[in-house]
Amino acid sequence: MATREIVNYPNEILEQKAQRVERIDADIQTLIDDMIETMRNAPGVGLAAPQVNVPLRVVVIEYGEPENEDEEPAEKQLFTLINPEISRMSREKEMGTEGCLSFPGILAEVERSLGVTVVAQDRNGDPLKIKAEGWLARIFQHEIDHLNGVLFTERAQKVYEIKPDEETEQDPSAA
Ligand code: NI
Repeated sequence: MATREIVNYPNEILEQKAQRVERIDADIQTLIDDMIETMRNAPGVGLAAPQVNVPLRVVVIEYGEPENEDEEPAEKQLFTLINPEISRMSREKEMGTEGCLSFPGILAEVERSLGVTVVAQDRNGDPLKIKAEGWLARIFQHEIDHLNGVLFTERAQKVYEIKPDEETEQDPSAA
């Protein structure tokens, strides 16, 4: 495993539609391992392959929903999604503050569906169906947008800069 350089905006690859993975070969397995390491190292809660300069439909997400504000986050769950698609999204939406690993120092208020169902393949090529709500649903929407060349600033109601010393305090959970 190795970390890869994260592509920062502006860069064409971030605004292009990524291609479907047709064959899950050794290169894809290496890509997935590297993406997991890069996401953890950043640190972030999600990463899409175009963010490491690979125009393929691969996403990794690792997130644990805190039980409540005072408690430690629940055990984190790792998702590796190949060719993910949103098969259902709730009509109900909510605003939330997002960060993106390709936009250091930027936060944005984005309205997202409260719940989504995502279908994909796992890294063995087996079909996956995941129902997610709240923050996890938000991360799925953010990452799948990346695969379609859609950036969170395009969906944002409000975009603002944070100073480096505010970053830890705000904990924006970049994806
Ligand atoms: Ni992002």
